[in-house]
Amino acid sequence: MKEIEMVAVFDFGSQYAQLIARRIRELGVYCEIVRHDITQDELGRLNPAAIILSGGPSSVFESGHPRMDRRVLDMGIPVLGICYGMQILARIMEGTVEKGKGGGEYGPARITVKSPIGIFADLPSRLAVWMSHGDHVTQAPEGFSVLAGTSACPIAAMANSDKKIYGIQFHPEVVHTPKGLDIIRNFLFNVASCKGGWTMGKFIDESVTRIRDLVGDDTVICGLSGGVDSSVAAALIHRAIGDQMKAIFVDNGLLRAGEVEEVHTLFTKEYPLNFRIVDAGERFITALKGVTDPETKRKIIGKTFIDVFSDAADDVHGAKFLAQGTLYPDIIESRSPSGGPSSTIKSHHNVGGLPEDLQFELIEPLKELFKDEVRILGKELGLPKKLLNRQPFPGPGLGVRLIGEVTEEDLAILRNADLIAREEIERYDKKQEIWQFFAVLLPVKSVGVMGDERTYANVVAIRAVTSLDAMTADWARIPYDVLGLISSRIINEVAGVNRVVYDISSKPPSTIEWE
Ligand code: XMP
Repeated sequence: MKEIEMVAVFDFGSQYAQLIARRIRELGVYCEIVRHDITQDELGRLNPAAIILSGGPSSVFESGHPRMDRRVLDMGIPVLGICYGMQILARIMEGTVEKGKGGGEYGPARITVKSPIGIFADLPSRLAVWMSHGDHVTQAPEGFSVLAGTSACPIAAMANSDKKIYGIQFHPEVVHTPKGLDIIRNFLFNVASCKGGWTMGKFIDESVTRIRDLVGDDTVICGLSGGVDSSVAAALIHRAIGDQMKAIFVDNGLLRAGEVEEVHTLFTKEYPLNFRIVDAGERFITALKGVTDPETKRKIIGKTFIDVFSDAADDVHGAKFLAQGTLYPDIIESRSPSGGPSSTIKSHHNVGGLPEDLQFELIEPLKELFKDEVRILGKELGLPKKLLNRQPFPGPGLGVRLIGEVTEEDLAILRNADLIAREEIERYDKKQEIWQFFAVLLPVKSVGVMGDERTYANVVAIRAVTSLDAMTADWARIPYDVLGLISSRIINEVAGVNRVVYDISSKPPSTIEWE
């Protein structure tokens, strides 16, 4: 049974389940997202102080709609059902749910609070909220009273105060419900009597104890990519067990200019760890020889990485554990009731793709955290800001930014052009508003003229996008002057390039990377 105070968010497939979890943690309460059909026994082992039922895209009128173990409602744990979560509560407890007339209610609405108790304590009687529902509750279950409503949705909130079960039709987790955080706060602290006080410092202390107990005198190997997640995982494990962790960094020859040196300096001087670089550039280039298809390239890079890493791990005799920087969203995706994305757009690869027959036990110390929490953790562990603010860089590296066959010569051209693009955009983008920026080398040659001479040379594309989560992205409106400077510097300083173009495509329909 868990000793720390935790809240369980039942995931009914809402795109907002993670946001609910974030809000709870912002309020200083530790929280985990669990499957909607978690059994009473499984939940009992987690021992949550409160339960939140998320919304979801389904309707209780669809066959096979996501359900929950109704015995959970008899455990005496306070429950807050949001949107679909409220409807499922009403269904189970024999209230009435109906399809909305006129197709439902989407967008801003104002509720009138009739009973300012529980989740509405100390809040105004008129509240702006965000609605997004087709069905709604038309009769609250027995024992429930109606707390708030709108003209379109007379039962916008209901409660059984004795059982501490609440249902709300609107979404308190989104910013468009300005008092939403107060409603969640009321539920956690007034209704569920949570104590709060969960901090990153506590997380570090608990993790260090847990890792020490688990590892004992054994050895852990850790795949370091130089990115934020694996670096923070390594730093945390190092805090726990010091040199019993051996970090391995695979130089696949597809890294950006200066990257190997940066990672080397970081982990030997600035943040010294038991750290080793495996130089495998040749092995990757050889494996990629003659290959032009993007998916085949990705698969080859992924497989070669696994082979190289396995060989290196074999050299660490007696290692029992393998550490990875897996984050919470990676795990939730595979747990989602909707089963995650329906089609593979690109085969993403990172250390997460290692085969099970590596015969290590996994340690994933960040698997309960979100990306921004990992950055905060890294800061508390003393990792440099420069590392923590690093842009995402794809596992297959420059291999997917060099379109067509990967050769040493073209890699050198791309590296130099990319360095210039990064230098100039970094100089311009002081507030770090651009999500990612880089150069792409195209498999096209074009005619140019340099000093009266005809040239027939490579074309480089510059890609810079704004984004919040990489799921969607827009091309960054970089000033012409900055683009002009990048173009003239690349053409003048990088031999073999006579043309630079700027990519003005959004995602979708394009993707951020070109391959
Ligand atoms: P796309 O190109 O799919 O990229 O729009 C979305 C984000 O994912 C990054 N990316 C990867 N990250 N392994 C990774 O860890 C990969 O194989 C990979 N491919 C793309 C990309 O840089 C962008 O941030």
